[in-house]
Amino acid sequence: MVVKTEFIGFRSLLYRSGWFYNAITRRLYDQDKKFSTIATLIGKGPKTVLDLPCGTGYLMRFLHPAIDYEGADLNHRFLKRIRKKELKKRNIKLTKINLQHKNIFDFQEYRGEKKDVIVLCDILHHIYPKHVDLINIAKKISNKIIICEPYVIKPKEISAHDKLLKTVIFIGKYLPKSLFKIVDFLFLDNDGINSYQMRSQWNLNKKSLKVFFKTMGFKNIYKISDEFIAIWESQDIMEVQA
Ligand SMILES: C[S@@+](CC[C@H](N)C(=O)[O-])C[C@H]1O[C@@H](n2cnc3c(N)ncnc32)[C@H](O)[C@@H]1O
Repeated sequence: MVVKTEFIGFRSLLYRSGWFYNAITRRLYDQDKKFSTIATLIGKGPKTVLDLPCGTGYLMRFLHPAIDYEGADLNHRFLKRIRKKELKKRNIKLTKINLQHKNIFDFQEYRGEKKDVIVLCDILHHIYPKHVDLINIAKKISNKIIICEPYVIKPKEISAHDKLLKTVIFIGKYLPKSLFKIVDFLFLDNDGINSYQMRSQWNLNKKSLKVFFKTMGFKNIYKISDEFIAIWESQDIMEVQA
């Protein structure tokens, strides 16, 4: 693993432990269905896949063993979770795994030529307003991009299927903005990298997120619970040009 020193600020409870992050996100979203769908869209056989950011590496559980997997994230605790013991426990059969502790925007440092697939899962709302830059750079170095993005971010809109989280979200609905900022900082989406000031400006909803994907050239869009999975392929551009 390549280790880079980068300044990281305070992280919320959610981002302090890979185990905790997985436990909470599994209660909020249908993680298994989501990542197995992404894996199906990637396909079988030898392919290069770049996962930006890879988080706790959940996607790896569903990938075909012949895939050459590369993941990057600035959360060293999440990367640490993807250790040998975890790979064995989850029966992950990938043999080519390269994990990097680095900024996902450092594209010049990724290995080799064009990637077959770049996965951008649950990241666009974190990096606002640089989400368009990320997609445009990804287009230059991959044949296919798979984005998975929730269309509800604010607690009052999330329809968690877990009773405990439903109650927490219900309480969250009535928090004034100033208090919500503190709760976000301590417990929610504060990843220690992207500021609340920027993140809170993300305002795409179900309708506008779909329009955004279409405008960016993503032809196929699927809905899984509160999230969209959108696909872009380089051959689509060639078809338009032909
Ligand atoms: C919501 S998590 C998603 C992780 C993973 N893709 C998933 O779906 O489980 C967001 C992740 O983005 C990472 N992150 C945010 N901005 C980043 C950046 N500029 N460079 C590297 N990682 C970043 C955080 O560390 C965090 O692990």
